[in-house]
Amino acid sequence: MEYDFDAEVDRRDTDSLKWEFIQSEEDPLEWELTDRFFGEDRILPLWVADMDFPCPKPVVDALVARAQHGIYGYTMPTPAFYQAVVRWTQRRHGWEVAPEWICITPGVVPALNMLVRAFVPAGDRVLIQPPVYYPFYSAIENNGAELAFNPLIYEDGRYRMDLADLEAKCSDPKVKLAILCSPHNPVGRVWTEDELTHFGEICIDNDVLVVSDEIHSDLIFKGHAFTPFAKLSEAFAQNSITCTAPSKTFNLAGLQTSCIVIPNQELRSKFERVVQSNGLVTIGTFGAVALQAAYDHGEEWLGQLLEYLQGNLEYLEQYVAEHIPQLTVVRPEGTYLVWLDCRRLGLNKWELKQLMLEEARVYLDEGFVFGPEGEGFERMNIACPRALLAEALDRIRQAVGKLSGDIE
Ligand SMILES: Cc1ncc(COP(=O)(O)O)c(C=O)c1O
Repeated sequence: MEYDFDAEVDRRDTDSLKWEFIQSEEDPLEWELTDRFFGEDRILPLWVADMDFPCPKPVVDALVARAQHGIYGYTMPTPAFYQAVVRWTQRRHGWEVAPEWICITPGVVPALNMLVRAFVPAGDRVLIQPPVYYPFYSAIENNGAELAFNPLIYEDGRYRMDLADLEAKCSDPKVKLAILCSPHNPVGRVWTEDELTHFGEICIDNDVLVVSDEIHSDLIFKGHAFTPFAKLSEAFAQNSITCTAPSKTFNLAGLQTSCIVIPNQELRSKFERVVQSNGLVTIGTFGAVALQAAYDHGEEWLGQLLEYLQGNLEYLEQYVAEHIPQLTVVRPEGTYLVWLDCRRLGLNKWELKQLMLEEARVYLDEGFVFGPEGEGFERMNIACPRALLAEALDRIRQAVGKLSGDIE
């Protein structure tokens, strides 16, 4: 069937984080209910990573059918559940996963917190590559570990890994684990086999376990190919833990079901003990239904979604080049998040936030929340109907124009 990604869906009264909550002014880790995203004078929310598109019809149908049953008792993953994950990973990424390698958690972020607890003794370190998805920081710090940084290098409009620095940082015996964000949020890189190989070899040489967060792996733009880290070699598979989920791919984040793939049996047992110590034995009824329907029947929708996102990206790149040349688009290779370099506006981080939120009236993720390397950048979520994206860009054009004195 043909899906209409141009249709605007009213998300009011759905308890949506993206549309009904805003970061508190006093405490950025607190969220406050707001009605600023609706009405005449509304602010446009293009922040947190969920999409303004309904998920595939087979998923909605499966959920409705399950909801109509009326009994929502404890739910366990069945062989059909695991097979859906196995077939998807095989079909989309050519990676053969055994069903017994899969541990289910209520989200990748909860899994990251538990992984730190399972594998990093208090006071030891976890390496990350900033600017990077900010819950990595809290997952490490809230679980007794310390941060180690291997910042990405930004050169000629593209990010790459600093492998010499990675080698130096991994040689610190306190560094026990490295979190790879693959594809990388927020800079949008889809790491090449070569980059992943270097990363993996440095980690093995220094006895550093790899956690590869591959939640965005199904969202790849034309001209790029995603490689699962663990597929590269048996040695990498044995020294890594891969986090996957249907949540970004099919817009199911609220159903809180993710798959943590651990080929190494010893590591898996250790992780499972921590999962169980949190009382996480059964899984969410609706998450289980949605995962199977999405992986088994969602591919047609995903194909159309990727085409639409490609169109949004091209629209944005052209618009910024023509109308807001003060900004630079760091072209994403994957994810639906666009990293905008706003440093030529010459604003400090608070002035930039003020410009976007109060002048342009668009709500984006501030670059600095991804680490100090992100200061002067904004992250824009382009998974919305094109008309909304166009309006947001037009508002930014006007705000930037006023700032530069081009518009009265
Ligand atoms: C890299 C990355 N990991 C994890 C998550 C969230 O995972 P979950 O909703 O399963 O906790 C996101 C959401 O944006 C993300 O970008």
